[in-house]
Amino acid sequence: MVERSIIRIKDLSKIYPMGDFEVVALDKVSFEVNKGEFVAIMGPSGSGKSTIMNMIGCLDRPTNGEYYLGDQPVSKLDKVELADIRNKQIGFVFQTFNLLSRTSAIENVTLPLHYDRQLLRTDKEIEDLAAATLESVGLADRMHHLPHELSGGQRQRVAIARALVNDPLILLADEPTGNLDSKSGMEIMDLLAELHDRGRTIIMVTHEEYIAENASRKIKFFDGHIEQDNKNHKKNKDKENKK
Ligand SMILES: Nc1ncnc2c1ncn2[C@@H]1O[C@H](COP(=O)(O)OP(=O)(O)OP(=O)(O)O)[C@@H](O)[C@H]1O
Ligand SMILES: [Mg+2]
Repeated sequence: MVERSIIRIKDLSKIYPMGDFEVVALDKVSFEVNKGEFVAIMGPSGSGKSTIMNMIGCLDRPTNGEYYLGDQPVSKLDKVELADIRNKQIGFVFQTFNLLSRTSAIENVTLPLHYDRQLLRTDKEIEDLAAATLESVGLADRMHHLPHELSGGQRQRVAIARALVNDPLILLADEPTGNLDSKSGMEIMDLLAELHDRGRTIIMVTHEEYIAENASRKIKFFDGHIEQDNKNHKKNKDKENKK
């Protein structure tokens, strides 16, 4: 099988001017991610993990360097084009879930579908797609609950369903288990591992070694550059055996 890279990052830098100083958050970082990989991004606080996620997710633009998402030269696009890519091709999951609090689980999941008007879906199609996505993350019986009527793990499942409903090229998760107790955290990791088994490309930030063990590759950042980049052979072998 020929591995196809869907992310190609070359000499990417992000520099924040701070008065007389500048903060080099990313310092000429280069790496590629293949379709179907599950990458854990690790490293100490301030090492650039969230900054690289924001670049990959088209939330922010690099100061220098190249970023290709599929065939698209992201670092050359303007703000409107970036927003379009973000809505259609990137699914985000955050540590704090970021759900709309007065809006039911299913309404939270339908939101991204309303942005994508080109597809001209009917309300019924939108509702059905959101319901099927919630079902696929194990929340068939919680669709009409508000976020405060759900446990932390269930809220994160809603956020994952919202991230997946557009069938994005990549799923980005910045410390998805950071606000969860260890049992709910493991359940979320089981769900991400299952999505990976089904072929989803995932990039996740975590501080925890045991969480990173679920990924097929670990990239460690230090001071804005990549210090280590290793395949997780055990996880890759597990995946081969399941085929
Ligand atoms: N908007 C900003 N303006 C100025 N400096 C910033 C900005 N965002 C991040 N930085 C700096 O860039 C560096 C990398 O930050 P980043 O948020 O990527 O770290 P991180 O690895 O995600 O840390 P943590 O584990 O604490 O979340 C830090 O030194 C931070 O202070
Ligand atoms: Mg961070």
